[in-house]
Amino acid sequence: MAYDVAVLVGSLRKGSFSRAVADNLATLAADKLTLRSVEIGELPLYNPDLDDDTPPAAWTKFRGEVVGADAVLFVTPEYNRSIPGLLKNALDVGSRPYGKSVWKGKPAAIVSVSPGLLGAFGANHHLRQPLVFLDMPVMQQPEAYVSKVGDLLDQDGKLANADTKSFLAGFLAAFATWIGKHK
Ligand code: FNR
Repeated sequence: MAYDVAVLVGSLRKGSFSRAVADNLATLAADKLTLRSVEIGELPLYNPDLDDDTPPAAWTKFRGEVVGADAVLFVTPEYNRSIPGLLKNALDVGSRPYGKSVWKGKPAAIVSVSPGLLGAFGANHHLRQPLVFLDMPVMQQPEAYVSKVGDLLDQDGKLANADTKSFLAGFLAAFATWIGKHK
């Protein structure tokens, strides 16, 4: 049976390149992975006070959607050489209440996306820091830095570049193997 992978995208922008790449990944995943989008745009900013009584419904829904997954795939742009606050908030929401983190032990992988030349390297590596703390085995190789993304997508947001498609299909195949080892 295919592994159920929760996909978190670090952008809310309507024409998001990261979202387009995530959508393409879903079509490249072959039969070993099922990529399932988990939305993070409606999560109230994390405030521990709100966890004391009845947490916001959006937090409970989100936590439920992640906790059932076999693994997590992050597809993110870079904001100011780090991850967007949107994504950090989702990590914080999922990490609490204390002792009930939904992230613990879940294999993870990162695809960072940028219209620039550096492939959102800063975001990719900043994201690894909280994931290590959250006790998620994060795939180290292959790495995926998607640079100059605007040149790789056609008008419909489909990946037009055969080399990129083949690279990302290989990345996903490696992730399936990684999940099998660490789940
Ligand atoms: C950016 N952008 C950007 N790009 C990059 O490669 N490194 C960076 O540090 C930043 N910093 C940054 C900060 C803020 C606040 C914004 C809004 C943008 C540009 C960014 O990569 C570009 O807007 C992408 O298109 C964002 O990803 P999505 O929304 O297309 O997925």
